[in-house]
Amino acid sequence: MFSRNKFNPEKDLKDLTDKVAFVTGGNRGMGYETVKGLARKGATVYLGSRSEEAGKAAVARLEKESVGKGKVIYTWCDFGTTEKAEKSGKELLSQINRLDICVLNGALLADFRIKHLDGTRFVSHFGNLKLLQTILPLLEETSDKYGEARLVTCSSNAYKLGHAADPNIRFESPDDFRQDWTSEGKFKAPFSYYAFSKFCQTMTHVALHKRNKHPNLIFSAVDPGWVNTFSHEYLILRLLKPVINLWFDTPEVGCYNLLFAAASPKMTEEKEKYDGKYLLPVGKLEPWGANVTVEKSEKMLDLSMQFLEKENMFPLLPRME
Ligand SMILES: NC(=O)c1ccc[n+]([C@@H]2O[C@H](COP(=O)([O-])OP(=O)(O)OC[C@H]3O[C@@H](n4cnc5c(N)ncnc54)[C@H](OP(=O)(O)O)[C@@H]3O)[C@@H](O)[C@H]2O)c1
Repeated sequence: MFSRNKFNPEKDLKDLTDKVAFVTGGNRGMGYETVKGLARKGATVYLGSRSEEAGKAAVARLEKESVGKGKVIYTWCDFGTTEKAEKSGKELLSQINRLDICVLNGALLADFRIKHLDGTRFVSHFGNLKLLQTILPLLEETSDKYGEARLVTCSSNAYKLGHAADPNIRFESPDDFRQDWTSEGKFKAPFSYYAFSKFCQTMTHVALHKRNKHPNLIFSAVDPGWVNTFSHEYLILRLLKPVINLWFDTPEVGCYNLLFAAASPKMTEEKEKYDGKYLLPVGKLEPWGANVTVEKSEKMLDLSMQFLEKENMFPLLPRME
């Protein structure tokens, strides 16, 4: 908590005038606060939202709360299927000619109300990957042309837990993406899929960083900490919010690590130290969990690409009732 208290986005981020940023899942939670933080430093921020109504309402709310000298623009962004993810990326590309900061924030979280649990794995890993595949060339080009660009992957410490911690986990065939954990039940299974999706997303970051040929493109994978983005959804949790917030950060603070990775001058000044790394809040370097290696990450990424090209991404497991 202490480092959170010391971090001040206003003072500790660089000026982002003329920069273009894109934040997925920007209509609520940490994505929303990240959009606000970047805009207040002067960036033009494309707020990705899969719902036009929620996205435009978020832009209106941000304008009311003030985005300072920056600008916020809604852009449709849904990575629930490969087709939608690609279309979202293309739609963004049709509106911009540079991309300085990309924050892959949106995801499906562990939630016992989700019936197609497989969706968690497919949206958070494959959907994000397909979207990124579409927009990565512009990030690379921007880094070459303007001296720097940043790719921020919102990870989670959950990537070290559950099946993701199994040392025997392998990425040899597309079937390795089809594990059925639904028998674990309504409460545990959602977490298993979530942890696995964060594991794959984090390893994607490792593999892409290893293969990156653009010296001015800075990569980071970020754990935001424990953040209360859920209590508004249930009456009982709304009532308990003050108690919950003793352990969890608010989204306003939960976005700090994303903001650090996206716009702290330290990431530029000490690039060798930070580039490609995993960060705990705020800006604290953390070694990879035992199950993440460059070799495994590259295998996982190659298999994921193959999966995206050849398989139907949409949920393959039956619904949980
Ligand atoms: N909260 C925590 O304690 C915590 C801890 C560690 C890591 N994280 C990570 O932090 C990030 C943000 O979490 P949060 O707590 O702010 O989550 P949140 O409040 O649940 O927001 C998730 C965002 O992702 C969007 N999203 C979901 N499915 C999507 C899809 N198919 N296409 C496009 N957007 C989609 C949601 O859009 P809709 O509004 O349309 O649903 C929403 O904007 C996630 O990557 C999460 O894994 C969170």
